[in-house]
Amino acid sequence: MKLEKMDAFFATRLNGYDEHMMMEIEGAKEFYPYTAALLPPKHDAYVLDLGCGTGIELEYYFTLNGKASVVGIDLSADMLSALKQKFSDRKIKLICGSYFDVPFETNCFDAAVSVESLHHFTAAQKLKLYKKLNIALTDNGYFVLTDYFADSEEAEHFYFSELERLKSEQRLEPNVFYHYDTPLTVEHEIEVLKKAGFSDVQIMRSWEATYTILAH
Ligand SMILES: C[S@@+](CC[C@H](N)C(=O)[O-])C[C@H]1O[C@@H](n2cnc3c(N)ncnc32)[C@H](O)[C@@H]1O
Repeated sequence: MKLEKMDAFFATRLNGYDEHMMMEIEGAKEFYPYTAALLPPKHDAYVLDLGCGTGIELEYYFTLNGKASVVGIDLSADMLSALKQKFSDRKIKLICGSYFDVPFETNCFDAAVSVESLHHFTAAQKLKLYKKLNIALTDNGYFVLTDYFADSEEAEHFYFSELERLKSEQRLEPNVFYHYDTPLTVEHEIEVLKKAGFSDVQIMRSWEATYTILAH
């Protein structure tokens, strides 16, 4: 398997991406609307989307709350330009970059959301990100994470060691994001969220390997 850089991976699959997500990912027809329904309904809601891609979760959210303001961050300029075309009439600010590097405004978001994006990263990378996110949320703010998780610790270790093996075999740059799924177990994800300062972390629902977690 030849690893592709993360942004290039999504750019080359942009054509038909939304259909692929909705038709091929188990539970997608339910978890997108379910995730969107957990986001704040108030008209002046200010929401951050980590790895917004083409904005599938935002399509559902904007049908429930067309007045919300959203900041969407994504590595792929192509995914963001597809998103932009869908929502020309919405209050949305797009940032092309890595959510690990982009500075977040502090104490201002009513909620943050991330769907099917964070399963590419280590617990250490997420801990830093979740600490930054916790500071970006208001006192009553919360994070809705819908993502794909490993079904055992053995599977989690296997994916991370495979990624390292492939990177060294293919002599890839160490500090570049390549597309390869390295999901944590849901238990490890919850541990990281708690360590980052979220005091109340609940699994809300699951569809095969995809779970929705709500963190306050
Ligand atoms: C599977 S897509 C999900 C997109 C959208 N949330 C959805 O559910 O359709 C994953 C997205 O995460 C983005 N992504 C991956 N790593 C990222 C990072 N470090 N910073 C920002 N975006 C990232 C990718 O570019 C891609 O658009």
